[in-house]
Amino acid sequence: MAVTILAIESSCDDTSAAIVRDGVVLSNLIAGQDVHKSYGGVVPELASRAHQANIVPVVAEAIKMAGVGKHEIDAVAFTRGPGLLGSLLVGTSFAKGFALSRNIPLIEVNHLHAHVLVHFIKQIDGEGRIPAFPFLCLLVSGGHTKIILLKNYLEMETLGNTIDDAAGEAFDKCGKIMGLNYPAGPAIDKLAATGNSKAFTFAKPMMKGLDFSFSGLKTSFLYFLKDKLKEDPGFIDKNLADLCASLQYTIVEILVKKTVTASRQTGIKSIGIAGGVSANAGLRNALVAESAKKGWDLYLPKFSYTTDNAAMIGIVGYYKYLVGEFTDQSVVPVARF
Ligand code: KG4
Ligand code: ZN
Repeated sequence: MAVTILAIESSCDDTSAAIVRDGVVLSNLIAGQDVHKSYGGVVPELASRAHQANIVPVVAEAIKMAGVGKHEIDAVAFTRGPGLLGSLLVGTSFAKGFALSRNIPLIEVNHLHAHVLVHFIKQIDGEGRIPAFPFLCLLVSGGHTKIILLKNYLEMETLGNTIDDAAGEAFDKCGKIMGLNYPAGPAIDKLAATGNSKAFTFAKPMMKGLDFSFSGLKTSFLYFLKDKLKEDPGFIDKNLADLCASLQYTIVEILVKKTVTASRQTGIKSIGIAGGVSANAGLRNALVAESAKKGWDLYLPKFSYTTDNAAMIGIVGYYKYLVGEFTDQSVVPVARF
């Protein structure tokens, strides 16, 4: 019999709902929040209020778009964390209420696990590639930079982590220094396409093992620009594309180097990327080139699955449903795992 999951994601500033049936995404709706743009970052209180306003219509529309009846939903999967507590609370409360009212199981999902599992979403026609286990995933977002080893659908281990800023934060904070709007990652990616990636060099961290550090790069970028602006106040405007290309090149080099090391150390060649920064063209191109040299089986996510979305929560929900991994009504969200 088919398994139909209603999935809810509300960990940060996107309210998303999806219907996933037997590992196939029937609908995946995302309501973004423009309210944060002028603040240069996500304002937690505003985010939770926007989730409250959005959650009911987004879920209703996701169910309608999928063409399923409420009675066909077998379980509700939701993001328990990590994320902003006020935001998580909205999704968690909604999921608990929905499950209770329909007397169906509740499934808690780790947001990071969900980002990694986007590679296991099935196509409706059975086409498409699915990675083999063990699978290595470089998870790069605004809040996380990790190398994750996925042993099977439900078991994962973190092999490397950032000790300070996340890769997305490096893009966003350096973008802010250049006067770009939040989040600056997509704009830097676009501008980098027309710039010279070797125009400028910035400090790279000397991190041992598989851990990352990005705060030194941000400081090096800031002081470099401060010096240049003293000589020429128009320096950023005149060199914007080159600055973006050089910054992106540096971040990508750090990420790719660690991925190569992780593959070498573990012997794993089934490799993917996930999270907001996995949309980056520089990162994708560099990994495709590396993959050709190293004979990797490389997985790049669909752009719609790079940012926060409920489809990824639904795929974890599906695999947890199959083994009966349910949670009860006493569950509360957690900001950090
Ligand atoms: O996964 P995500 O949507 O939210 C978090 O869980 O953090 O990631 C958002 C991050 C932001 O830092 C944003 O600047 C970055 O992903 N990002 C990009 C690109 N698209 C989004 N960074 C670089 N290049 C992109 N094309
Ligand atoms: Zn995320």
